[in-house]
Amino acid sequence: MHQPHEWWRGAAIYQIYVRSFADTDGDGVGDLAGVRSRLPYLAELGVDALWFTPWYASPMADGGYDVADYRAIHPAFGSLGEAEKLISEALASGIRTIVDIVPNHVSDRHRWFQDALAAGPGSPERDRFWFREGRGERGELPPNNWMSQFGGSAWTRVPDGQWYLHRFASAQPDLNWQHPEVRREHEEVLRFWFDRGAAGVRIDSAAEVIKDPALPDLVDGADPHPYLDRDEIHDVYRDWRKVAESYTPPRALIGEVWLPDPERFARYLRPDELHTAFNFGFLTCPWDPARLREAITTTLAVHTPVGAPATWVLANHDVTRTVTRYGRADTGFDFAAKAHGTPTDLALGTRRARAAALLSLALPGSVYLYQGEELGLPEVEDLPHSVIEDPMFHRTQGADPGRDGCRVPLPWSGDAPPFGFGPEGTQPWLPQPRHWSAMTAEQQVADRGSMLSLYRTALRLRRSETALGDGQMTWLPSGPQVLSFTRDPGFGCVVNLGSEPAPLPPHRQVLLSSAPLRDGQLPTDTAVWLRLP
Ligand code: GLC
Repeated sequence: MHQPHEWWRGAAIYQIYVRSFADTDGDGVGDLAGVRSRLPYLAELGVDALWFTPWYASPMADGGYDVADYRAIHPAFGSLGEAEKLISEALASGIRTIVDIVPNHVSDRHRWFQDALAAGPGSPERDRFWFREGRGERGELPPNNWMSQFGGSAWTRVPDGQWYLHRFASAQPDLNWQHPEVRREHEEVLRFWFDRGAAGVRIDSAAEVIKDPALPDLVDGADPHPYLDRDEIHDVYRDWRKVAESYTPPRALIGEVWLPDPERFARYLRPDELHTAFNFGFLTCPWDPARLREAITTTLAVHTPVGAPATWVLANHDVTRTVTRYGRADTGFDFAAKAHGTPTDLALGTRRARAAALLSLALPGSVYLYQGEELGLPEVEDLPHSVIEDPMFHRTQGADPGRDGCRVPLPWSGDAPPFGFGPEGTQPWLPQPRHWSAMTAEQQVADRGSMLSLYRTALRLRRSETALGDGQMTWLPSGPQVLSFTRDPGFGCVVNLGSEPAPLPPHRQVLLSSAPLRDGQLPTDTAVWLRLP
C-alpha cells in the first residue's frame, strides 16, 4: 500500500493558466484573487491539486515562462501574500498547490542576465549563461547551428559582439547548469516555495537543462544529444529529490519531459529522481484503438520497473484543445501548426473528447486536466494576428499559429464577453468567441448532458471508487476497435472506437457513460464505466 503522503500517485490535477482563468480587477488578465474566488468551483469539480503556470514577476515574453524574479508574484496577478493565502485557502478545501519552476532559462530582465550584459565578455557573470564568440570572419555568424524551439536561430548577438544561447525566445537566455550558483539558486527557489506550502513543483523543459559545454553543431542522430536528455541531468534531479524529501510531508517533483523514447523517459522516474512526469505519448496519440492500446501498454510497462505511477494528459497550454484535435479527419497530434484551420467536426471531436475523458480518468495513475477542457472549449483558430502574443507565432512570422488559441480566457457566465471572466466591460487579453455563450460554466452546471457535468460526475466517482487512481489494470479480451479493461475491485472501463456498436462485458451496473447506450450496446466513440460482478 502506498502512503497518504504519496497523494500524487493517483491525484487529479487541474492546470491553471493564471492569465486566462478569472480576472477580478478588470484589467483583462486573470489574477490570484480570481482563483481564490473560484475555489468553490474547483472544489465542486473534485480535483485534488492545482498546478499554476508561472505566476512570478516576468515581462511576459512567453506567458511568464520568462521569469524575472522567482520570489515575487507578477503585479498583475497579485502579491506574495496573496499567493500564500491562496495556497492555504485551497488546502482548506482539500486542494494542494503545485508551482511551476523553469530551470532551463530566465528572463532577459532577470538580475543575473542584466549583470551579465553589464559585466561584459569573459566576466564571471557571463558564466551563468552561454555567451560565446560568433563564427565567421567577424564573428557575425551564430556559434553553432542550434535552432530555437520557437523558430529561428537559438542565438542572439549583443552589442559587444558576443552571442548568447536561448533554446526558446531571445528574451529567455538559457542558464549554464554546469555552474554551481545556478544549481544552488534553484534549490533555494524550491525551498522558498516549499516553505510557503507548495506541495510540489512542475519542472519546465526538464530534459533540456544540461548542454554539452563544447556546444557542437547538432547533427542528425547525435548520441549523446548536445542539449536534450543528457545523462548529467539526473544528478540535478537527485539533488532536488533530497530537497523535496527534507520536508514533511515530502514534496512532489513533476517533470515536463518530452522524449520520444519511453525507456529514456522512465529514467527520470527512478526512485531517487522525479516522482512523476507528463505522459506526452498519450497526449500525442491519435484517436485510434491500436495506437492507444499500444500507448497505454508501453506507458505502464516502462513505469512499473521504476515503481513510478503513470500520468494521463490530454491537453495543456501548449497544444491544440482536445475537441478540436479529435474533430479532425487526421486525429494525429499537432502542435497547432500543421492542422490549424483544416476542416474540423466539433460535434465529433466533443464526442471523442468525452470518451477520452472517461478513459484517462479510469487509467491507473494520476491525471491532468487543463482549464477549460472540463467545459469542452474548442481551440480558437481565428484570433486576429494583432492580439497574438505567443513568441512561437512571431518568431515564425505567423507560419506557426502559436499556442494562444488554447489560452483564451474562460467563459464563466452570461451571454456576452467577457462571460464573467472579469467585471462588466473587461476586455480579456485575448478575445472570446461570441458563441461561447452556450459553453459557460453557468450554463453547463445546469445541463446534465454537458461536458462539465460529465467531468464532475467522473471526478466524484474517481474519488469514491477505491479501484481508481493509483494501482493496476487488466485488459479484457475485446474486438480490435475496442479498449476494455478492469480495475480491482469490481470496476470496468470500455471504450468503443469502431464504427459498429460494441457489446459490453457482463456487469452489475452502468456507473457512467460518455453518451447514451443503445440497446445495451456501446455506440461509436463512447466510453462507459461499469460495476463488475
Ligand atoms: C514549456 C512550457 C511552454 C514554454 C516553454 C519554455 O514547454 O510548457 O509553455 O513556452 O517550456 O519555457
